[in-house]
Amino acid sequence: MSETSARNLPVVEGAAFTGTHVPLIERYRERLPFAPGDPLVSLQEGSTPLLRAPLISEMVGARVRLKLEGANPTGSFKDRGMTCAVSAAVRDGARAVICASTGNTAASAAAYAARAGITCAVIVPEGKIAQGKLAQTLIHGARVIALQGNFDQALTLVRELTDTHPIVLVNSVNEFRIEGQKTAAFEIQEALEGELDALCIPVGNAGNITSYWRGFTEVGMAPRMFGFQAEGAMPLVLGHPVEHPETVASAIRIGNPVRWEDAMAAARDSRGSIRMVTDSEILAAFRLLASKEGMFCEPASAASVAGLLKYGAEGAEQVVCVLTGRGLKDPETAIAHNDGRVIPCPVELEAIEEAVLGDGS
Ligand code: F0G
Repeated sequence: MSETSARNLPVVEGAAFTGTHVPLIERYRERLPFAPGDPLVSLQEGSTPLLRAPLISEMVGARVRLKLEGANPTGSFKDRGMTCAVSAAVRDGARAVICASTGNTAASAAAYAARAGITCAVIVPEGKIAQGKLAQTLIHGARVIALQGNFDQALTLVRELTDTHPIVLVNSVNEFRIEGQKTAAFEIQEALEGELDALCIPVGNAGNITSYWRGFTEVGMAPRMFGFQAEGAMPLVLGHPVEHPETVASAIRIGNPVRWEDAMAAARDSRGSIRMVTDSEILAAFRLLASKEGMFCEPASAASVAGLLKYGAEGAEQVVCVLTGRGLKDPETAIAHNDGRVIPCPVELEAIEEAVLGDGS
């Protein structure tokens, strides 16, 4: 085990992890491009729950489970890819990482860079990322640049920047990101003993659908890959880039995904599809998940369930919907779109009685 040059603290700490929850790179080292003794930057990501969804199962007539990627350390699936991207960057002597982001990649990169003791910069579309993600990125100490443009423009610029500067790009153009994220498919294979007919997944920059398909292929599985894009940001459905993507699901407000070809290949080779859900279908699934299944995810994540409810299970008996991020990431959207209300109350027993037991009018 070696120490990294990034700072004087050891980041090779595999042996220090105890219990059943081991870092993802340790758990799947044979299937990942890391050797024993390589620096390992981990926050104990991966090994996320696969939760039954009884109501949704009944609604679509299939056994539906939810892969809870919000249970990762920074609250989204990005941590799977980021442990690999940042560990590799540190192994290669990098001092800085950078990404364009709709929020989650930024939060994850910031956390892993903090852990590694290297610097991190993120370029986000100005005013377009959820508050929780911004809070995370700032508290982890990343440099946050608010671009007066959209995600696609941010990614184009950041790719140009990293062509001429020694900063590692940790968007999903980085192969280590895809390698790390494919481990979610391994976990599903183990949990369901290879029995899966369809995977429903939101699609933005299209790295995650690419990763899952790679992972399934590596373990000899071939579930149908059903990817879903939001109506205002559905380049893969239209077959051409969308110049001004718009959707309530800010995480997938992307008009020109970098993993375009890979995502189309995953859909085609698995006899799946990439289809569209509207913002109101996304919000309906978002509320249903929270109010009936007890699972608060972020709006983009609910696109997977919205798609399943809209198009049906299509004969699949075992279905997994990937809930990519935690609801707490985006409190504004949850507060703006729910059926409840906050009841004001003076400090009096009668008023409390009325507030708690009254008809709510
Ligand atoms: N769900 C969430 C919560 C996301 O944050 C993202 C992407 C996706 C789904 C789509 O995954 O891009 O691999 O197709 N978020 C990126 C970001 C773009 O910057 O955080 P994808």
